Amino acid sequence: MIQKILLAASVILFTHLHAQKKMIIPIETQNNALVLQVDTGNRAGIIYFGKKLANASEYALVPGMYKRGDDYSGILNAAYTPSGSRNLVEPAIEVTHANGNTSLDLQYVSNNKQKVDDNVSITTVLLKDPQYALEVTLFYKTYFKEDVVEQWSVIKNKEKGAVTLQKFASANLYISANNYWLKSYHGDWAKEVKPEEVQLTHGIKVLDTKLGTRANLYQPPNFIVSLNGPAKEDEGDVLLGSVEWTGNFRVDLEVDPLNNLRLIAGINPFASEYSLQSSQEFVTPAFLYTFSNKGTGDASRKLQRWARSYKVLQGNGSRMTLLNNWEATFFDFNEDKLSRLIKDTKKLGVDLFLLDDGWFGNKYPRNSDNAGLGDWQENVQKLPHGIGFLVKEAQNTGVKFGIWVEPEMVNPKSVLYEQHPDWVIKQPGRPEYLYRNQLVLDLSNPKVQDFVFGILDNLFTRNPDIAFIKWDCNAVIYNAYSSAFQKQSHLYVDYVRGLYKVLDRVRAKYPNVHMMLCSGGGGRVDYGALKYFTEFWPSDNTDPLERIFIQWEYSYFFPSITSCNHVTDWGKQPIKYRTDIAMMGKLGFDIVVSHLPEKDLQYCQQAVETYKSFSEVVWHGDQYRLVSPWDHDFASLMYVNDQKDRAIVFNYQVNNRYATGSLSPVPLKGLDPEKKYSVKEINLYPGTKSTLPANAVYSGNYLMAVGFNPDVNIQRSSVIVEVTEVK
Ligand code: DGJ
Repeated sequence: MIQKILLAASVILFTHLHAQKKMIIPIETQNNALVLQVDTGNRAGIIYFGKKLANASEYALVPGMYKRGDDYSGILNAAYTPSGSRNLVEPAIEVTHANGNTSLDLQYVSNNKQKVDDNVSITTVLLKDPQYALEVTLFYKTYFKEDVVEQWSVIKNKEKGAVTLQKFASANLYISANNYWLKSYHGDWAKEVKPEEVQLTHGIKVLDTKLGTRANLYQPPNFIVSLNGPAKEDEGDVLLGSVEWTGNFRVDLEVDPLNNLRLIAGINPFASEYSLQSSQEFVTPAFLYTFSNKGTGDASRKLQRWARSYKVLQGNGSRMTLLNNWEATFFDFNEDKLSRLIKDTKKLGVDLFLLDDGWFGNKYPRNSDNAGLGDWQENVQKLPHGIGFLVKEAQNTGVKFGIWVEPEMVNPKSVLYEQHPDWVIKQPGRPEYLYRNQLVLDLSNPKVQDFVFGILDNLFTRNPDIAFIKWDCNAVIYNAYSSAFQKQSHLYVDYVRGLYKVLDRVRAKYPNVHMMLCSGGGGRVDYGALKYFTEFWPSDNTDPLERIFIQWEYSYFFPSITSCNHVTDWGKQPIKYRTDIAMMGKLGFDIVVSHLPEKDLQYCQQAVETYKSFSEVVWHGDQYRLVSPWDHDFASLMYVNDQKDRAIVFNYQVNNRYATGSLSPVPLKGLDPEKKYSVKEINLYPGTKSTLPANAVYSGNYLMAVGFNPDVNIQRSSVIVEVTEVK
């Protein structure tokens, strides 16, 4: 008791000491700063967001420079906006206390900075309601060199009874500029990441999803905010943000009455009221952002670098090229056919054969997408000798073997559904509503988590040489209801937590197996999931022309090493065009190799070799978007390695009109102006000659100031150029 009183006294004293004068908490990275100020009323507000100042003591002078009018509530710039007390705008947190009261005030208690290593630090800011035993700790994890911040909150209920959380955002930012522009994305199956850019008007623009599982189908959690004008590639203030959550997210962008931007991001509280028992805490996922005053190019390179070093599984490792059978066979295959495809894998020269959907189900064979999902036993008609036989076939042929699963879902026509109807998310008494003929399993139920983990565990236990998993997720959550005994409004949150529990177990036991994150295309690409996955499937749309745009947009947020790009029969473009585009990431094929004309096959074999010779640069190098397909007749994009002695430049015609193409030189980026470079076209189709000058050598200075013309036109619609230092 005495200890408690002393502690309380010291907290009051500590708080009081700071309450005497305004205290500054700068959260800085190499170039940027987010600065909190604790005012005399113990209120933690954000007074600065942007380029770091040389002299930290001058941050305190910033608020005085703004004459934007009065903030009557005094908390428009709150570091974490409470609701129900004097707040008049969108809150970051909304609670109902144990006694039914709905007001919340959050006052500053203390802060702490911990160094994780030379590059990473975590600043925490503890806030507490003066009336109620409810605490919020704000976490700011900074990655100094990459200028990346991950921000999350921990809400702790120290009251005697349960508290209900109606909103529980990860982060709350406050940004001051003259005007704000938002580039966000919308989409659907085969139409992923379609960008839209608008100037934010006063009031709230919300980015969100309520789909539950395939959460990003309509809207991904990635966005760009630019200050004082639309986002530009090489200049201007831009913030690239994303929510690290594999489920419903919500981002509020509110231009407040004083013309500042309030940004609140986290889990979508929609239908997700969460009750927190006494002494329990709620840990939100992180909101992730980077900021640059040099435009989206610099910002995305930093984000990509951060993702490779800190988030994506084996982000600095290598990846396997592959042949997938999905579009080559769909559900129609047997051992013989697959054995031939395994041989084709070898013939093509790629590393791995990936067996897709359709290999399982006996009572309800998986011969189309309307049956068998959930019954993870090999179909005895198609695979009488099981997966083990195929793994051996692959081994004997000298390639690796990978397999498709969709472990979170079930067809009503399945033994799993018959045996465990209570494991399925559906409303009692209401008709089932299916998405792709299937329903979602209730991953908030620990028994279902065991089952889902067991699918992977059984596969690996029986076939330890499986080298790759494609983890699909095709359905959204309709009729959200869990039969497991829990609060229904916990389902959306606990589903994702259940998924993470399963993935944690998979990774604890199988840390290195490469896994592709797929969701009927790119319906679920986020950094919450990429912690467990080596790569993702951006879209089922592999039409190469479409892919230029799709890959371009993903590249603002994700490094190329994570982007699985397959050469398929989508689109009318020649094989070279299709393959060159797939090389800007992780190369794969999903074609009938045996149907390829001789020269096309020869080209593909050479292309795989060529890809292997430069994939290091694409996977780990810095990416520069040079010429946008949105504004030009051709697109150009390059990768430069860290030593700046090698670069690969990809160029594509995106317009069929007469006399269009690369009419002017393309200034390259990221090279060393002092170095000399040879510039050479590579990956030519057999029998064709390059129109580029042979043995050309230029200075880095010339290549970046004047540029180089890849000579892209309708006849030469795809040109890859290798830039190598000449010593
Ligand atoms: C959707 C995926 O995006 C496809 O690549 C394929 O795996 C199918 N599912 C299989 O059902």
